[in-house]
Amino acid sequence: IIASFQPKSLAGKCVLVTAGPTFEPIDPVRGITNLSSGKMGYAIARAAREAGAEVTLVSGPTALSAPFGVHRVNVQTAEQMHDVVMSRVATQDLFIAVAAVADWRVRNVAAQKIKKTAESRTPSLEFDENVDILAAVAALDKKPYCVGFAAESENLLAYGEAKRRKKNIPLLVGNIGHQTFGQDENELILFDDNGHTPLPFADKQTLARQLIGEIAQRLARNAL
Ligand code: CTP
Ligand code: CA
Repeated sequence: IIASFQPKSLAGKCVLVTAGPTFEPIDPVRGITNLSSGKMGYAIARAAREAGAEVTLVSGPTALSAPFGVHRVNVQTAEQMHDVVMSRVATQDLFIAVAAVADWRVRNVAAQKIKKTAESRTPSLEFDENVDILAAVAALDKKPYCVGFAAESENLLAYGEAKRRKKNIPLLVGNIGHQTFGQDENELILFDDNGHTPLPFADKQTLARQLIGEIAQRLARNAL
């Protein structure tokens, strides 16, 4: 049997992926975070590496180990994730934002552990909005091809396309949402200028490979 030679679809490309949740401190022992295992983002980083790319994975706290051959940078907060992404984005061909970034950070972070009081008063938290990392990258003059994710709990078709337009990105991947958090399988819908197309329900690594294939095709078309 003669195997036909297939050049790797992302050979020579630099790919930056964000994954996992971010963690925003309340005090030295507490914080707020989002539901995200990091599995989808890590699977995408692995698939991009398999496709021949040089991959940097900027990851919030997860229980996962870095995929083989992928350079991982660990962060906690959205601000740290933003700073790492911005410091590396200039050399990237592709940016895939999979992280479940906390939309808000606590304004009045306590320097010491907040103690319960005798009167049982509950603490009040104030919030500031975090910077939108994906939108910040998409707003750059010289920017990589940008791919976003959206996990919605309802109206995925309408919200997905609206989000893609608002962030001004060519491709947004919609997720049926919280039903698949932490699980090994997922269902994705791709939103682009031509409308929306579902990828069939599959395990996250299979989906990640299909998605990388779809992205590589669009990247190649973009370069023409
Ligand atoms: N994202 C980001 N930085 C943020 C918030 C979101 O980079 N501060 C990215 C996510 O990684 C994802 C995309 O933006 O790729 C969409 O995230 P999502 O939370 O679905 O959208 P938001 O714009 O935050 O809108 P909302 O949470 O209100 O639905
Ligand atoms: Ca959000």
